[in-house]
Amino acid sequence: MELERLLRSQGFGSRAESRALVWAGRVSVAGEICDDPLARFEPEGLVFSVDDVSWDYRKFAYLALNKPADYECSRRPLHHPSVYSLLPEPLLKRGVQAVGRLDQDATGLLLVTDDGSFIHKCTSPRKQIPKLYEVITRHVVDDEQISALLSGVQLHDDPQAVAAAACVRLNERCLQLTVTQGRYHLVKRMVAAAGNRVEALHRASIGGLTLPESLAAGQWMWLDAPELALLALNQRMDSSAE
Ligand code: URA
Repeated sequence: MELERLLRSQGFGSRAESRALVWAGRVSVAGEICDDPLARFEPEGLVFSVDDVSWDYRKFAYLALNKPADYECSRRPLHHPSVYSLLPEPLLKRGVQAVGRLDQDATGLLLVTDDGSFIHKCTSPRKQIPKLYEVITRHVVDDEQISALLSGVQLHDDPQAVAAAACVRLNERCLQLTVTQGRYHLVKRMVAAAGNRVEALHRASIGGLTLPESLAAGQWMWLDAPELALLALNQRMDSSAE
């Protein structure tokens, strides 16, 4: 692939902008400055740098972000900064999007990608991907609330009761709740329907992918094939047409 096209695909602007970067001597490939925008490279496995920041070529970008509280999962946030402000410009130019949303006050694992089919698979209700939340509650959690969450609680907008896939009390005001749907305020509404209230909400994992302890709030990391495999998206695909 020509260098200017490759840079464009990785979020370094239009073809003309990418060409200008190369002409300005700001792009190196395999450690050597390359000033020919039409020089051809095999993209798979290519390491290049722009202004001394190193990038691996990636056909699609898959990231895990540790969302801090008081950030909104919207590109046009109303009251708080956007989670997208935590990502570097080339990723934004690639058009990455959050896979589902976390509330402004919720923290934890947020997947971000520019692969539309991945977003579709992750968010499809058919996939039933478990999401594990750590929930701090306002009131002491009693056995009745746990059984209500496990057997199913009634939400206002759904005639069918919604049940947690798992619910473990960690201490008197702390639950680990696993849900397989991705609906608006789902955990808060379920806990409220069980007679309690969410005071703090943290998403610890999605499928088998757990937020690494080393990833501080506000930081992001690339996800490669081994981490993506933990989501088991293909195993969760059913055979009917999507
Ligand atoms: N459930 C909620 O209530 N809020 C979230 O952000 C995620 C799940």
